[in-house]
Amino acid sequence: MPMRSPNLVKMVGGNFLGVILLVEIIAVMSGHSFGANGLSMNYYLTTCPFAEQIVRNTVFRALLADPTLAAGLVRMHFHDCFIQGCDGSILIDSTNDNTAEKDSPANLSVRGYEVIDAAKEQLEKMCPGVVSCADIVAMAARDSAGGPPYGIQNGRKDGRRSKAEDTFNLPPPTLNASQLITKFRQHGFSVEEMVALSGAHTLGVATCRAFKNRLSDVDPTLDEDFAKTLSKTCSSGDNAKQPFDETMNRFDNLYFNTLQRKAGVLTSDQTLFADSRTAGTVNRFAFNQAMFFASFQGAMIKMGALDVKQGSRGEVRKNCHKFN
Ligand code: HEM
Ligand SMILES: *[C@@H]1O[C@H](CO)[C@@H](O)[C@H](O)[C@H]1NC(C)=O
Ligand SMILES: *[C@@H]1O[C@H](CO)[C@@H](O)[C@H](O)[C@H]1NC(C)=O
Repeated sequence: MPMRSPNLVKMVGGNFLGVILLVEIIAVMSGHSFGANGLSMNYYLTTCPFAEQIVRNTVFRALLADPTLAAGLVRMHFHDCFIQGCDGSILIDSTNDNTAEKDSPANLSVRGYEVIDAAKEQLEKMCPGVVSCADIVAMAARDSAGGPPYGIQNGRKDGRRSKAEDTFNLPPPTLNASQLITKFRQHGFSVEEMVALSGAHTLGVATCRAFKNRLSDVDPTLDEDFAKTLSKTCSSGDNAKQPFDETMNRFDNLYFNTLQRKAGVLTSDQTLFADSRTAGTVNRFAFNQAMFFASFQGAMIKMGALDVKQGSRGEVRKNCHKFN
C-alpha cells in the first residue's frame, strides 16, 4: 500500500527508518491509508479530530432550516470537482482583475456558500489553518446526499485559480447520452457511474432556462402531459423552478421512475432512458434503490478525488472566498 506524508517527513527530518516507522504506527493507529493522490480516510483524526462532526452538525442545522440547501451543496461539489479538480475554486469571489467561476453563466443555482462559511469559521477557531475549503465542500456534499452514511477521503488542498472561463467544461443540459458518456469518460467515469451521478437530480430544481429547449418542437422523448406541466412552469418566466421529481428534498430513486414515465426535466435527464446504452441502468436503479445508493456513493467518492491538489500545488485557505 503506498503511503506518503510530507508533513511527517519534515517533522522527523532525515531519519529514514524513523519516518517509515512513525508513518506506519500512525497509519495503523488512525486507520489512515494514503492513496496515490494523497487523500485518506480519517485524514483529520490527529490534526482536527472533530472536523467531520463540525461539518455534519453545521450542515444538519442548515438543512433543518432550509431542506432545499441539500441540492445546492451536492451540486457545489460536482461543479467544484469538474472544473480544475476538487480544490474549492468554486468558492472564490471575483475581484477587479479576476472573474471567478461562481460568476460564470453556469453558476446558476449553486447555493449553500453560507453553510461552508459557517463550518469554516468554527473549524478555524478549533484548528486554525488545517481543514481545507475543498474538504469542507466534499464533506458537506456527503452529509447532504442521502442514503446510508458513507466514508469519504480527505486531504484536498485549496487551489489558486478560479476563472469564469474554465466553467465551459461543465456539461450543458442539452447534451444527449453520447455526449454525456464522452464528457464523463474524460473524467474517468463509466457509463453506469455517469447515470448514478445524474441521480443527484433526485434533489432540487431546474429553472425554465435549462429545459425550455424541449418545448419549442415536439420532443418524442417527453410525455405529453408533462410537456404541459413544463410549459406552465415556463409561463412564469426563465427563472421559474421545476422540481426534478416529486420528492425534491428527499434523496431516493424516484428520479429514475420519473425518467421511465418520460417525465424527466432536462434533455440530459430524459436521454438516459431514451438511449439503449443507459436505459438498462436507469431501469435497475428505478427497481432497486439500494443499488442506486451503492453506485452513487462509489461514484461520489471517485468524483471527490478528481485532480486533487497536493503539496505546493495548493494551500489551506484561511477564508474560503479568497486565496491566502
Ligand atoms: C449529467 C450531466 C449534468 C447536467 C447536464 C446537469 C445540469 C443541471 C442543470 C441545468 C441544473 C439546473 C440549474 C438551474 O436551472 O438552475 C442542475 C441542477 C442540479 N444538479 Fe445537475 N447536471 C448534471 C450532473 C449533475 C451531477 C453529477 C450532480 C451531483 C453529483 C448534479 C447535481 C445537481 C443538483 C443537486 C441540482 C439541483 C440544484 C438546486 O436545486 O439548487 N448534477 N443540473
Ligand atoms: C452568478 O452569480 C453572481 C453573483 O452571485 C450573479 O450576480 C450573477 O447574475 C450570476 N450569473 C447568472 C448567469 O445568474
Ligand atoms: C448527439 O448529439 C450529437 C451532437 O449534436 C450528434 O452528432 C449525435 O448524432 C447525437 N447522438 C445521438 C445518439 O442522438
